[in-house]
Amino acid sequence: MINEKRIVVLVSGGGTNLQALIDAQKKGELGSGKITCVVSSKADAYALTRAEQNGIKTRTLIRKDYSDIASYSKAMRDILLEEKADLIVYAGFMTILDENVCDAFEHKMINVHPALIPSFCGKGFYGLNVHKAALEKGVKVSGATVHFVTAECDAGPIILQKAVEVLEGDTPETLQKRIMEQAEWKILPQAVRLFCDGKITVNGSVTVINQ
Ligand code: GAR
Repeated sequence: MINEKRIVVLVSGGGTNLQALIDAQKKGELGSGKITCVVSSKADAYALTRAEQNGIKTRTLIRKDYSDIASYSKAMRDILLEEKADLIVYAGFMTILDENVCDAFEHKMINVHPALIPSFCGKGFYGLNVHKAALEKGVKVSGATVHFVTAECDAGPIILQKAVEVLEGDTPETLQKRIMEQAEWKILPQAVRLFCDGKITVNGSVTVINQ
């Protein structure tokens, strides 16, 4: 495809968000985007199996093989350059990369976070911890956010958000499942498409979506 956008997806775990992207791609919903490689920070991530089952190239860059974030980030930057990534999607990727990567791919990396940023985000807020904190605070609404990645964790310009109701009796697990189903698996593919169609403009810390 002319002007095809090469999407590299970074994962660390189960990969349900990756699956949502694969399903969207199969339905032609990623526009000119194509998932060309999946990179995992963990060797046993089920996300790798999902990629393989769909004929997508996989690579692993194991976090614990590197002594610090700087050397891990440098190795990741090399992989992303090698893969000629036009867009990098953090889909349940649990490692914070430094400015070496974020500056090299400014406004080309996006992350899905399982809360309405700026609530329940930043260092330490990942996976079930996020939902546990939301329930402890007693919020009645949570949700998901897709945003550009910057060197500051969860602080980059917001692209899309979707609210999800918190229900009485929710556990971190039930809330996580509802937020994934009702928000993450929808807004992540939508944001990828908007990016690939060139419809996102960044003005400082704010994005504008040109429909
Ligand atoms: C998702 O809920 C994702 O938003 C979250 O981890 C889960 C990964 O699930 N990511 C973070 O918390 C990053 N700060 P998945 O592997 O099934 O997509």
